[in-house]
Amino acid sequence: MSEARKILVTSALPYANGSIHLGHMLEYIQTDIWVRFQKMRGNQAAYVCADDAHGSAIMLRAEREGITSEQLIDGVRAEHMADFADFMVNFDNYHSTHSEENRELSSAIYLKLRDAGHIATRPVTQYFDPEKQMFLADRFIKGTCPKCGTADQYGDNCEACGATYAPTELKDPKSAISGATPVLKESLHYFFKLPDFQDMLQQWTRSGTLQDSVANKLAEWLDSGLQEWDISRDAPYFGFEIPDAPGKYFYVWLDAPIGYMASFKNLCARRPELDFDAYWKEGSEAELYHFIGKDIVNFHALFWPAMLQGAGYRKPTAVNVHGYLTVNGQKMSKSRGTFVKARTYLDHLDPEYLRYYYASKLGRGVDDLDLNLEDFVQKVNSDLVGKVVNIASRCAGFIHKGNNGLLVDANPAPELVEAFRTAAPSIAAAYEARDFGRAMREIMALADQANAWIADKAPWSLNKQEGKQDEVQAICALGVNLFRQLVIFLKPVLPKLAEAAEAFLNVAPLKWADHEQLLANHQLNPFNPLMTRIEPAKIEAMIEASKEDLAAANQPTGNGELTKDPLAAEINFDAFAAVDLRIALIEKCEFVEGADKLLRLSLDIGDEKRNVFSGIKSAYPDPSKLEGRLTLYVANLAPRKMKFGISEGMVLAAGPGGEEIYLLSPDSGAKPGQRVK
Ligand code: MSP
Ligand code: ZN
Repeated sequence: MSEARKILVTSALPYANGSIHLGHMLEYIQTDIWVRFQKMRGNQAAYVCADDAHGSAIMLRAEREGITSEQLIDGVRAEHMADFADFMVNFDNYHSTHSEENRELSSAIYLKLRDAGHIATRPVTQYFDPEKQMFLADRFIKGTCPKCGTADQYGDNCEACGATYAPTELKDPKSAISGATPVLKESLHYFFKLPDFQDMLQQWTRSGTLQDSVANKLAEWLDSGLQEWDISRDAPYFGFEIPDAPGKYFYVWLDAPIGYMASFKNLCARRPELDFDAYWKEGSEAELYHFIGKDIVNFHALFWPAMLQGAGYRKPTAVNVHGYLTVNGQKMSKSRGTFVKARTYLDHLDPEYLRYYYASKLGRGVDDLDLNLEDFVQKVNSDLVGKVVNIASRCAGFIHKGNNGLLVDANPAPELVEAFRTAAPSIAAAYEARDFGRAMREIMALADQANAWIADKAPWSLNKQEGKQDEVQAICALGVNLFRQLVIFLKPVLPKLAEAAEAFLNVAPLKWADHEQLLANHQLNPFNPLMTRIEPAKIEAMIEASKEDLAAANQPTGNGELTKDPLAAEINFDAFAAVDLRIALIEKCEFVEGADKLLRLSLDIGDEKRNVFSGIKSAYPDPSKLEGRLTLYVANLAPRKMKFGISEGMVLAAGPGGEEIYLLSPDSGAKPGQRVK
């Protein structure tokens, strides 16, 4: 074996303004499998990531929620970390781009680029929201399409006719943030002179750093000439101020990839064996790999290597690009319930099912990958439960009952052992090349051979015959050994199953090289079932819950259930303005016969009376106490037919549920029927 390699691996930094979903998980699982493989091989691999915490979207959302940007990103980061941990994505470090390390590195890199002459400045005229006092990115401007006249289109393209245009071409433009009419305003912007790196990029993108199809796509850009890249944004902006330009901030995509370095730097501080410079300085012999989705190739394969080169750092060894996840052959869809959050999946299913399924479908290419839910159930049940786990469960019992759990020294099928031995380098090569699909196929072919051999030997029949005990023990000893080999090969994909298998096998954590020896004269621990079949009902429940997630986040359902999600999807001002929020007087409040969560409220909303069922009984055991109180009421929610009658709209409350539900009230002086704005 050659010397241990030094490998630094990253996955793209997820935005800190939304939940992780199964599309993201494709990337983190792919990267995690590759890193776990490298570590099992004895290489020094570090896997770092972080939340991508900057930008105006995050700032505006925090504002809407009445919290600081820091509070928002801290909460989201904690949620992301829990999702990743529960999917067994084993980062060596999970940092934030809003960190001291990143501030220092971003400033230092910018200053090096500036001093080397790679920064230019010039004025840019842009739409400005006079009410909100901020420049508007294209997606924060709405208006009428200049081509087809469809109203309510975003500032850069029309969803109706597909036209693309400059925001200044929109008719009747409006700020999506305040609704105000934007005005044109000039401001000085800072640019990174990407064309300075044209020759380097021509060469670098063709030097084996990228998949061919990715390099071909980039060649189109490179051949048509590169543009300077606008890296500044005006205040107010949540990010890092540019060191020599007060009031100007780094555009989020400038400091995001530097976040990879910052996360690694933060890790080095607690891992003495890791040396920041040894990994990042120009000429470093360490390997650096970025795993990303196909939508962010330009940032990683053009801007990023140019920035690194310009600032005197090494460039990536490779940028590994994957395609997009589809579910049942279609784009993930909230209405179909196929836009599944990581947490919703975890509420219903074992993460290793998904890890295996993704592995079985991942190749080296950038093609989209389909999660077909029927195929998912079928494949996991047949491969993992039916083939792999089955070998151990068939053999363990005979060793425990017949030989007190002592696995004997026996190799009754040398040709089979040889087949496993010779497959190992090819499986390893497939992992190394990120061709996990091929690795899984080769492993399952070995499992098939092992199962066929055991079925042929039929220890369960031999066990009933006199004088065949030694033979039974020999067969089952080899069976368990073959199972152990399969576990070694699958360990990068199934770390939890491997851990349970290690406990049963009574062995130290398995490394790749352990496949070269067989266990002999070895005491086993009791066998517990290692994995159960997927029940299709669980899939249905997950899909249903994903539909509910959306309902909770985007449209109050009026069923009195409080949404658990503190971070609902972003809406524009129009969507907010469409909600008819009123002050309501609770005239009467009473229990509902046969409903253990609901109260019936009779509301006075000025010129009308309304009847509402609300799931707040657990917090208000004495309903009469609510009578005479003012609260906030959604008046234009579609009426909802319930078992007990029709609920017309809903009242607003906060809190996690149970006794902690707090009905909202206006300040004194408010009158029933007044609109909330
Ligand atoms: N914040 C940027 C990345 C900055 S890296 C310096 C970003 N964040 S993201 O949250 O939108 O996406 C994170 C990663 O998940 C990206 O690599 C993206 O391609 C990937 N995916 C997001 N949705 C996906 C699918 N539906 N399918 C597969 N990958 C997906 O981009
Ligand atoms: Zn149009």
